[in-house]
Amino acid sequence: MKIAMVGSGYVGLVSGACFADFGHDVVCIDKDQSKIDRLHEGVMPIYEPGLDALVESNVKAGRLSFTTSLAEGIKDAAAIFIAVGTPSRRGDGHADLSFVYAVAKEVGESLSGPAVVVTKSTVPVGTGDEVERILKDSGTAHQFSVVSNPEFLREGAAIGDFKRPDRIVIGAEDDFGRDVMREVYRPLFLNESPILFTERRTSELIKYAANAFLATKITFINEMADLCEKVGANVQDVSRGIGMDNRIGSKFLHAGPGYGGSCFPKDTLALLKTAEDYDSPTRIVEAVVKTNESRKRAMGRKVLDALGGAENARGKKAALLGLTFKPNTDDMRDSPAIAVAQTLTDAGVIVSAYDPEGMEIAHPLMPDVIMCDDPYAALEGADVTAIVTEWDAFRALDLGRVKELVNAPVMVDLRNIYNPDDMRASGFTYTSIGRA
Ligand code: UGA
Repeated sequence: MKIAMVGSGYVGLVSGACFADFGHDVVCIDKDQSKIDRLHEGVMPIYEPGLDALVESNVKAGRLSFTTSLAEGIKDAAAIFIAVGTPSRRGDGHADLSFVYAVAKEVGESLSGPAVVVTKSTVPVGTGDEVERILKDSGTAHQFSVVSNPEFLREGAAIGDFKRPDRIVIGAEDDFGRDVMREVYRPLFLNESPILFTERRTSELIKYAANAFLATKITFINEMADLCEKVGANVQDVSRGIGMDNRIGSKFLHAGPGYGGSCFPKDTLALLKTAEDYDSPTRIVEAVVKTNESRKRAMGRKVLDALGGAENARGKKAALLGLTFKPNTDDMRDSPAIAVAQTLTDAGVIVSAYDPEGMEIAHPLMPDVIMCDDPYAALEGADVTAIVTEWDAFRALDLGRVKELVNAPVMVDLRNIYNPDDMRASGFTYTSIGRA
């Protein structure tokens, strides 16, 4: 089956490469000529473990190709995926759908045969209806069906998530749409991945509901962590204790500096806007958004406290280990590190940092932060060390060497990757999240 993927960013490229790996004939399309040129040379536009090898082997096998021409790319495709960005619209937080609609228009004008047009981009409820209207208005004579098929990939684990999904959600309004999508996902049917067929609007909402629920779970445990610190309890044990209840589940209960990334912050805001438009307030999600936002600067203040408070911090040195919003990505979008660094520099602290993949993107976002070549270089002369992202590289630091390099052995572990007793035994003044 021929599949066209319009938009070769994170979602489009990972999905396209995985579909090709299943044996489909995939063309990834993007307007950005330099991105397509680099893909032709085997250079990935994003850092995602395993993606370069997957792309390379499928290009070699002749199942995956790249083009800037939408008309050429969608020719004879049975399924045309729209996987372009839906950033928060400036000013009002609504998802900006202009890229999705522009693609829909071009697809309508270029259709060369019957096709299912699939929105994979995260789009608010009703977007499929609008895409359908745009396709109709394009005057195409070919049969088409508009389907919603949200993605649930996590950055850093995207290929595994795609190939072994918890579920596939398909929102289709007719048999043509359902039949083509069954064929698209047939390789996953065979490995018994659950597929849920729903109506299109329901499928669109499932994506937002899933992300908002996960963001709520994280925010809930973060607040429990704060309470643990006050009452002298241990949040990791609280997570275990509640997570063993199957009705709650153990995942997404790691307390930390607040969620970031390209999805939760944007999608929770977009859900609030939809709820507002339909006069159906989602107060829990409103509280989650506010709580998470204020948490990020609060984490900066936690590091300041370890320096003896904002009033004593000027001229002192802080080392940040990890900048990306989570490990195994170079993505800095809404990373808590940005607010932490800002809070510190606002208080006159000199901040140095190291991140295995994120420094190039981080640098313009935090121009006052000194980027270092390795973790130990960042630690030199530090009065406080803060672990902001739980990269594996920070899990087994040579603590003896750290103590020799720093000015004071003070560590604030915002990801709870070290054991408090061990750290104290090693001579560190150690604080973490939600653990006495
Ligand atoms: C998230 C969802 O997990 C995916 O299912 C979804 O497809 C994706 O958004 C999307 O909508 O595209 P992602 O943003 O890549 O994926 O990252 P997550 O692993 O979900 O982490 C998000 C944030 O939550 C990170 O800042 C992470 O550090 C934080 N987090 C996660 C916690 O603080 N605690 C946890 O227990 C889990």
